[in-house]
Amino acid sequence: MDAMVVYSSVTGNTRKVANEIFAAIPGDRKDIQSIEEYNGKDADTFFVGFWTDRGTCSADIIDLLSCLQGKNVALFGTCGMGRNQKYYDEIRDKVKVFIPDDCRYLGTYMCQGKMPIQVRRKYEQWLPGNPHPEQVKRMIQNFDEALLHPDREDLKKAAAFAVNMMELAKQNIEI
Ligand SMILES: Cc1cc2nc3c(=O)[nH]c(=O)nc-3n(C[C@H](O)[C@H](O)[C@H](O)COP(=O)(O)O)c2cc1C
Repeated sequence: MDAMVVYSSVTGNTRKVANEIFAAIPGDRKDIQSIEEYNGKDADTFFVGFWTDRGTCSADIIDLLSCLQGKNVALFGTCGMGRNQKYYDEIRDKVKVFIPDDCRYLGTYMCQGKMPIQVRRKYEQWLPGNPHPEQVKRMIQNFDEALLHPDREDLKKAAAFAVNMMELAKQNIEI
């Protein structure tokens, strides 16, 4: 098996990205499973997908990453925050540390994903009497923008990422 896509997704955003990545991986020596389905199927390259849970990935993804041995590993993730590369990089760095040293890290793709409506309701409750209403309004604006993601452009970038990662995996170089 050339590539295995394994992902964790509660509300479907990361699953969308995972399906796009899977479709873009060249050839047919590949498979895709959710973390719940994953049964230890082996591959040279693992695409591991996560939803962002309080600034990092969920425990099931940490367990999976920690168990990989001698693999090429590409990460992809979704999070509620949009258009903030610095924040994406921070999440990447927090997840990347769980990749064992004998694996080869290839890269990470992050994009925004919609959040449950309860999150907006919570922000709205913070507004009355808040000393920093602009900050809360920005959070609400970000929430509304997130409703459109992952969008066509996010998925196109995910597909290009998959192709790039598979090219990198073929190259026998230190990164
Ligand atoms: C409990 C919880 C914690 C979250 N923590 C963060 C976070 O720290 N940063 C962020 O940008 N988004 C956060 N989010 C938003 C999700 O990461 C985002 O909606 C993601 O796309 C969900 O992916 P899924 O649809 O694959 O489950 C959180 C969502 C939940 C439910």
